Amino acid sequence: MSISPAFLDELRNRVPVSRIVGRKVTWDLRRSNQAKGDWWAPCPFHGEKTASFHVDDQKGFYYCFGCHAKGDALSFLRDSDGLDFIEAVKVMAQEAGLPMPERDPAAAKRADRRSVLVDAMEAATRHYRMQLATGQGADARDYLARRGLDQAGIDRFELGFAADARQGLFTALRDKGIAQDVLDEAGLVIVPDDGGAPYDRFRGRIIFPIRDARGRVIAFGGRAMDPNARAKYLNSPETPLFDKGRNLYNIGPARTAVGKGVPLIVAEGYMDVIALALAGFEGAVAPLGTAITEDQLRLMWRISPEPVIMLDGDAAGQRAARRLIDLALPMAGPGQALRFAVLPAGHDPDDLLRAHGRGALQSVLSEARPLVDLLWEREIEGREFDSPERRATLDANLRKAIAQIPDEATRNHYATALRERRYALFGGRRGAGRLMPGPRERSGAQAGAPRAQTRATPLGQQDAGDVMLEVMALAICATYPGLAASVESRLELLAPADPDRAALCHDLLTGSDSAAGRAALARIMADRYVRATRLIREPGDADKAAAVLANILDKIEARRMEFSELSRAEAEIQGLVDEGLTWRMSESARARHRSERPEIEDTTDLNEDRDALSARLAAFFDKLPGKTRR
Ligand code: UTP
Ligand code: MN
Repeated sequence: MSISPAFLDELRNRVPVSRIVGRKVTWDLRRSNQAKGDWWAPCPFHGEKTASFHVDDQKGFYYCFGCHAKGDALSFLRDSDGLDFIEAVKVMAQEAGLPMPERDPAAAKRADRRSVLVDAMEAATRHYRMQLATGQGADARDYLARRGLDQAGIDRFELGFAADARQGLFTALRDKGIAQDVLDEAGLVIVPDDGGAPYDRFRGRIIFPIRDARGRVIAFGGRAMDPNARAKYLNSPETPLFDKGRNLYNIGPARTAVGKGVPLIVAEGYMDVIALALAGFEGAVAPLGTAITEDQLRLMWRISPEPVIMLDGDAAGQRAARRLIDLALPMAGPGQALRFAVLPAGHDPDDLLRAHGRGALQSVLSEARPLVDLLWEREIEGREFDSPERRATLDANLRKAIAQIPDEATRNHYATALRERRYALFGGRRGAGRLMPGPRERSGAQAGAPRAQTRATPLGQQDAGDVMLEVMALAICATYPGLAASVESRLELLAPADPDRAALCHDLLTGSDSAAGRAALARIMADRYVRATRLIREPGDADKAAAVLANILDKIEARRMEFSELSRAEAEIQGLVDEGLTWRMSESARARHRSERPEIEDTTDLNEDRDALSARLAAFFDKLPGKTRR
């Protein structure tokens, strides 16, 4: 049954999300603003004690800052109660006091029509396959044999043949009782505007049936046998069944194979998919006569978190890769990555397999590189960076590219990865400019120090200012019992990158006591600048400690938000701005406002010597006035 969008809107208007969610959570009423429809609770989707689950009745959304679960009332019913769509609508209708709508007659009719079209497509598939087996199909069989396809391969991909006749399929299917308008709507025949006789769309072509994920034949690809044919490949037109940008060739079998652990490989053509699958690379798919679309990327990611795009090594392949970078970045995130496997120039997978066998293809596959590599190459290729201006241009371009990534953690990792390449390119001139003003800046450890050593230094992973702020926040929380609880949600968002500090943060939040947390605390308290801070050396003034802590958290958040802002504009253009992002942005503005007070000196300079910075900070923490304007 299909439900009209108008009815769904009515339900959303009548039933606030909080009423649905409230059946599963206990609101944190201290933090919630009921009058504004702004609610907070511990997240029902992941175990936590603090309230990072946010419900906004105005917008009709929920979002968890811990596990990033998000959605509306219907998706909540689905994800938390396991209801299917119709069941969820029923619950909402009951809450709204509305009767369920009658079955939508128009939608029912559309569904019926689709099944009529599918039947016609199945009949056509049978017809084409039969044609390939008959005398008329002899040349086609030879052709396929020359291309290395045996009967098993032909059967597996249901290959067929459309004879070079004007009304072969038309007559055969009409005799089976399939109406002309059905054949027309299914794209099987062409009906001339001038009222002339309908004729077959596919003539003198090898036929590749295209099935959707549910296994229904929705279109055909037809390869010309005649090398002089106007188009080498001809595909079904867009029909009620076929949306070429939302399907992939061989999607069903590939999905099954990927489920068993093989990689999802995205090739360019039908013959490539067939050659790959027959060579044992069964997770192969291809777009349908167009460049890969956004919808197709989404479809791939539903099957595999990291599809491998197989590209020809020639210029066209490079162009396709560049295009894909821009298409994929605004969607990149956990579970939505891409790899690129570059074939030797002039070879497609089919050629390579035939010429050099599956070993050659396997090695191409194992050398597949992540998207970030291709992005980097795209930005530096053919350019020189022998002036500050050129380097700045590179930085700006990279920043712009990664700003498209909506997921913050992914964005940070891109920044780190690109920064490493940049350091390598510029010959170790670290700090020649900041790629990303984010929190995860690598420490500007002494030039020449081996990187491994930098990594091993517990305080060395982020930029010095960021680490120092984080360390100080943790030190204060550990010194003043009860303080952590008063800033629990902010502390939760701190999410230290260092695992020990993360453990300490968790311990402080939950009142637990872990070995890693203790180790982190011992190291922090041994830091001479921490020890030099009077608030910690001589604990006493809890109010002042709270004020200093709030100020430090403001500063940390402001530094982290700086980057979100940049990405937001881009994300908005991409239509990707989600609840969380919007929220973080308004927080960003607020956090920056709070931290734009003169008391804290700017610590964002990467070149700043850590010791000097720490000394300044330590002095600052002791000087800070006892009140802030929170
Ligand atoms: P290719 O030209 O690379 O063909 O087109 P191919 O797959 O290697 O085909 P063979 O090996 O010569 O038989 C790749 C894909 O682009 C689409 C088809 O989907 C094809 O599989 N295409 C190509 C068209 O839709 N029309 C064309 O005229 C050519
Ligand atoms: Mn080919």
